[in-house]
Amino acid sequence: MTTNSEWLEKDRKQLHPVYHPKSHANALVIERGEGVWLYTADGQKILDGMAGLWNVNAGYGNEELAKVAYEQMKTLAFTSNFSGMTNLPSIQLADKLAGFAYDGLNATMFTSGGSEANDTAFKTARYFWKRKGQPTKYKVIARKGSYHGVTLAATFATGLEKYQTMFGPKVDGFIHIPAPNPYRFEGSLDPGESVGQAASRALEEAIRREGVDTVAAFIAEPIMGVGGVIVPPADYFPLVRAICDKYGILFIADEVITGFGRTGEWFALKHWGVKPDILSFAKAITSGYAQLGGIQISDEIRETMESAPESEAYMHGYTYSGHAMACAVGLKNLEIMERENYPQRAQTLGKRLLDGLKSLTEFPFVGDVRGLGLVCGVEIVSDKSAKTADPAMTMRIFKAAQERGLRSRPLGNTLAFSPPLMINEDEVDEIVKRLGAAMESVM
Ligand SMILES: Cc1ncc(COP(=O)(O)O)c(C=O)c1O
Repeated sequence: MTTNSEWLEKDRKQLHPVYHPKSHANALVIERGEGVWLYTADGQKILDGMAGLWNVNAGYGNEELAKVAYEQMKTLAFTSNFSGMTNLPSIQLADKLAGFAYDGLNATMFTSGGSEANDTAFKTARYFWKRKGQPTKYKVIARKGSYHGVTLAATFATGLEKYQTMFGPKVDGFIHIPAPNPYRFEGSLDPGESVGQAASRALEEAIRREGVDTVAAFIAEPIMGVGGVIVPPADYFPLVRAICDKYGILFIADEVITGFGRTGEWFALKHWGVKPDILSFAKAITSGYAQLGGIQISDEIRETMESAPESEAYMHGYTYSGHAMACAVGLKNLEIMERENYPQRAQTLGKRLLDGLKSLTEFPFVGDVRGLGLVCGVEIVSDKSAKTADPAMTMRIFKAAQERGLRSRPLGNTLAFSPPLMINEDEVDEIVKRLGAAMESVM
């Protein structure tokens, strides 16, 4: 039998995402998965409290998804989907998605993942304004702490500097404003102002400062994921929507994490009665069983493509846009998510998880505990009243939890949890129990 360290020696020939040799030295070597459980090559059983990278909503080893992939590969794995050709699964999935997330978002352009989706969103926003006769509108306002992926544009839309340090110079046209973080707001708060008001005021100020005739779009994750699971105050997104309308700015919702049930609604802006002009999605559309993402656009944006002269064709798209097998898997996954009512599961089991995690605030280093549906964050601090972030302790707890068979994700000083939506009550309790034991061990 090949041991873990022998596999890791061979694995040195592969370059991993977000790589540093130190963080990969003792990597887990995963051999198989079943439900919420992962099994390493050397026999460890781990509860995957992150559903992979926030995406394996249907859990591991799902036979229905495996079968549909097999059948579609046998029938037709791939055809070009460039203008002039199409295939049945992509037609059916786009048809199913029309109006599914938000009213008025009826057209889908498929990509292979979330970074490509966001680059597609930025290019589509520029295309829209050029077609509208306003070619100077190209800038995108994003938030500090946001994560939008790692293609070149997405890297600089992202508001986390460590993703940019080694890849500059910056791509022109991305501006960052403070995030609506109720626990640690980094913007200026006027007397009597709520965090939601101040954070949306920052958007209005940025639009004015940059010049409304230069700004194409605003992009936001409804709940920031990689930035530390930041749940905005309820007044924020309605205010943001009103500002985008007032100034004629497209609102791009990056629902790569929050889409497809994760937060207790099919799509997260529904919590606040708001809808975007462009929606980016990826990850859970296939529960990670195939590489698929995309954008959906408003009817108004669609119209600018339909009415374009040939010289202004929408020259964008990927070899794998509308991949037949990936779309067939997406369609089956949607059927499963609807049948099992995943948004409802995320609501009830998410409440159970959040209540459980909140019970851990008795530990001296547990600060804010937050979440919505089945995505939660636990902040680790060295001083609760001063809210002093403690990334070193966060890593210790993360490692202690992993030794106890629980996978979370350390994000600065926040431990994130985003388990498969097919998780059951006992498994939710197991997350809390194992995390509690890990915390006990570092006291
Ligand atoms: C909110 C958000 N947007 C975009 C992306 C990038 O997606 P991908 O890694 O599929 O390119 C991610 C990935 O974690 C994400 O969380």
